[in-house]
Amino acid sequence: MKYVTKPVAPTVPIPEEVVPTPVTCKMFEDIPTEYIPSIFDDVVELLVEEGDIKIWRAQEIIKTMQQRKEIAVPEDEMAELKPGFPCSYGKVILLGEHAVVYGTQAVAAPINLAMQAKVWSNANGVHLIIPRWGVEEKIQRGADHKYSIYKSLDMILEKLNLRDQGMKIEVVPHIPRAMGLGGSAALAVAIIRALDEHFELKLGEDEINKLAFESELLVHGSASGIDNTLATYGKFILYKKGDPPFMQEVTIKDRIPIVIGITGVESLTAKMVSGVRKAWEKNKSLYERIFSEIDELSGQAVKALEKNDLQQLGELMNVNQGLLNALQVSSQDLEVLIDIARRNGALGAKLTGAGGGGAMVAICPDCADRVALAMRKAGYKAMVTEIG
Ligand code: PMV
Repeated sequence: MKYVTKPVAPTVPIPEEVVPTPVTCKMFEDIPTEYIPSIFDDVVELLVEEGDIKIWRAQEIIKTMQQRKEIAVPEDEMAELKPGFPCSYGKVILLGEHAVVYGTQAVAAPINLAMQAKVWSNANGVHLIIPRWGVEEKIQRGADHKYSIYKSLDMILEKLNLRDQGMKIEVVPHIPRAMGLGGSAALAVAIIRALDEHFELKLGEDEINKLAFESELLVHGSASGIDNTLATYGKFILYKKGDPPFMQEVTIKDRIPIVIGITGVESLTAKMVSGVRKAWEKNKSLYERIFSEIDELSGQAVKALEKNDLQQLGELMNVNQGLLNALQVSSQDLEVLIDIARRNGALGAKLTGAGGGGAMVAICPDCADRVALAMRKAGYKAMVTEIG
């Protein structure tokens, strides 16, 4: 996957002293030698493009490139759904992430990506298998689990009184992991649905949602509940946390074409949410003003959606991105993708989910293919889809 965001304009002169040998050696000194040729050109090109040739900057770029993963995002994931496997939804947050954890409104929509799971009886313990992610694990009861998904599964089985049953749980993920698209909540919902079906528990939708919320709290430490709500009900909603949470369905005239740009850098929601919390604890009045601005944007966005005013929706999303920057949850890759989207005609573009990596969303009524192509040319994955 290439990192460089756009080709260097041929008119940009590359001074000879820009890449002297000692500097390039130093900037790559911690990198395995076989890895250097594949990234050397990209790093130098980006440095030249930025016009600021610094060793620390090169090292920062290399670190980010090493973190980036190849993410599989087929053009139409739903076409590959496994028949007979219960399903849950992925989501995009159009406005309001992070602030929603503090009780403000957010607008979110389900997307054409799903998580699926199936349960089979098995004589010997509980086995979780996720072939696409290389996961094959026996989930020991109450163990000090290494990964939060094992902890979450252990808790779900305990709550459903299924801990003594032997079973194999197979998960088919169509949502890329840790990309801000609601993957962890969708995983919990798919597993709960599969258990419900296999053991004929007859759980209602609200029970499934509630249990998935407990899983979210376990995985992220603190959560608004928006992800599990979307994963369960799959509705385009204005959401506010609470017990019960407030949900108002957003009705729109026509489906809205969007592009989801994927940085390929995994983002840990728990880490991002706790970063915002620390900042809020230090200066509550300042951060609460930002949250209340975001709340206002979400409210206005619903009105814009109802009037089919995508121009206004886009503008509100752009302002929301400014406020997410103020919360310091954006990243260089996200900014690059947002810039590509806006320069290629998107009416609005912002990060979606926890940020720090993950994904962004752009409103593209008549430029979706152009935006997606420009993102792919810059080395990112992009998905063209619709909401509503
Ligand atoms: O990154 P995701 O898909 O887990 O979304 C997180 C959304 C937050 O607002 C940052 C957290 C939350 O619980 O609402």
